[in-house]
Amino acid sequence: MGKVYVFDHPLIQHKLTFIRDKRTGTKEFRELVDEVGTLMAFEITRDLPLQEVNVQTPVSEANSKVLAGKKLGLIPILRAGLGMTDGILGLIPTAKVGHVGLYRDPETLQPVEYYVKLPSDIEERELIVIDPMLATGGSANVAIEALKKRGAKQIRLMCLIAAPEGVEAVKEEHPDVDIYLAALDEKLNEKGYIIPGLGDAGDRLYGTK
Ligand code: PRP
Ligand code: URA
Repeated sequence: MGKVYVFDHPLIQHKLTFIRDKRTGTKEFRELVDEVGTLMAFEITRDLPLQEVNVQTPVSEANSKVLAGKKLGLIPILRAGLGMTDGILGLIPTAKVGHVGLYRDPETLQPVEYYVKLPSDIEERELIVIDPMLATGGSANVAIEALKKRGAKQIRLMCLIAAPEGVEAVKEEHPDVDIYLAALDEKLNEKGYIIPGLGDAGDRLYGTK
């Protein structure tokens, strides 16, 4: 069964408070989401493999370590996933980026796929699916399915805020996928919004309504 990690780092929790606050405007919201993306990337890369190398310091030789060159792929779900992607790329700039375009039909809450463009070698890459919101879990499940259908084997899911319903839905449909969150909230409301959540992530990032 997939594991669920909630990053309780004080900087993440502090910034998340201002992301939730309805008084936070578009510019600041976007900056904060970007920053939390970087901080979450720091946590999620904790288990990247290292290899030993020798380097010459100004005074002697040192046995040291470098990343072992694991191939990573970032997969933002459009559009809100884009808001976290640059922040993550700041830490892992050599990751390839694929895009999955989905929107949630406001009546049925079912995700509708409109765009998929992926790195050609996704089957060799460890993929991180990125979306600030995991609400019913429909979008994440469809995105993960779209990746698996095209050969992906190693997938993780990174979200800012999840509802318990979304976490359960992903665990049930994709038990091989670990989930990384900044917060696990209380519930969904009747319109499928996370309570307390942050409202509509895409609208708050891009100033639409
Ligand atoms: C939001 C959010 C997720 C989805 C979560 O996207 O960014 O992708 O809803 O809801 P779910 O877990 O119930 O599927 P939205 O459909 O509003 O599209 P947008 O990012 O283009 O605004
Ligand atoms: N999508 C959002 O942007 N916010 C929610 O609370 C749920 C889905």
